[in-house]
Amino acid sequence: MIIIDQEHVLDAPQIEMLLDTTFGLGRKSKSSYSLRENIDPIHDLSFVLRSNNVVLGTIRFWPAVIHDVLGGSDQQTLFLGPLAIHPDVQGTGYGKMLVDAALAKVDELSFSRVMLVGCTKYYGKFGFRSVKPKYISLPGNRDAERLLVRENGSVRSLPSLGRLIASDGLHGNCMDGRMSDNEQPLYVG
Ligand SMILES: CC(C)(COP(=O)(O)OP(=O)(O)OC[C@H]1O[C@@H](n2cnc3c(N)ncnc32)[C@H](O)[C@@H]1OP(=O)(O)O)[C@@H](O)C(=O)NCCC(=O)NCCS
Repeated sequence: MIIIDQEHVLDAPQIEMLLDTTFGLGRKSKSSYSLRENIDPIHDLSFVLRSNNVVLGTIRFWPAVIHDVLGGSDQQTLFLGPLAIHPDVQGTGYGKMLVDAALAKVDELSFSRVMLVGCTKYYGKFGFRSVKPKYISLPGNRDAERLLVRENGSVRSLPSLGRLIASDGLHGNCMDGRMSDNEQPLYVG
């Protein structure tokens, strides 16, 4: 049986192993990890796909801020990643199931923008597009050309020139206190 549900504290060792297996031990040198350093993922938006208590997939979201370099203002965003499916079961539809379920929860909670570093070939089908022609840099000035965004129509537009920076939390967000560890699974099948 496949279950997609909220990540539990006890899943952490399995998730770390899954990420090492999927991305290799050098994964923490990626620019996206700089946005997560010393910051916890958003607990209520951290999901795993498991089969018989074995974690086969993980997806997490982090708080981040887009700083408008010219205007000086800040906007909050969700930053997606890492997303990983165990190599033994890649290409069997689990990735799509996990992303669809997680983004449905993001939409249900009325988050208007999600960003990530990835390829449009994979993430395009979930509504992500390149941030170009806007230019939003990442820590270390790498990967800006692979920065993708998914947003709903009512969101304030991205600055022409911005910086994506880490945030220590979601400030004043709608989801405070709305979910708990007893949240029902997103998928059972
Ligand atoms: C990327 C990943 C999460 C996809 O999960 P998955 O369970 O293997 O993929 P799915 O079975 O859900 O595939 C869904 C679709 O995406 C396509 N796809 C899978 N991996 C892809 C990739 N890296 N790039 C482009 N398309 C990809 C599949 O061909 C499939 O297409 P279809 O719907 O037209 O048949 C998983 O393969 C993974 O963890 N890969 C290692 C990390 C990685 O490569 N990340 C880069 C993504 S940009």
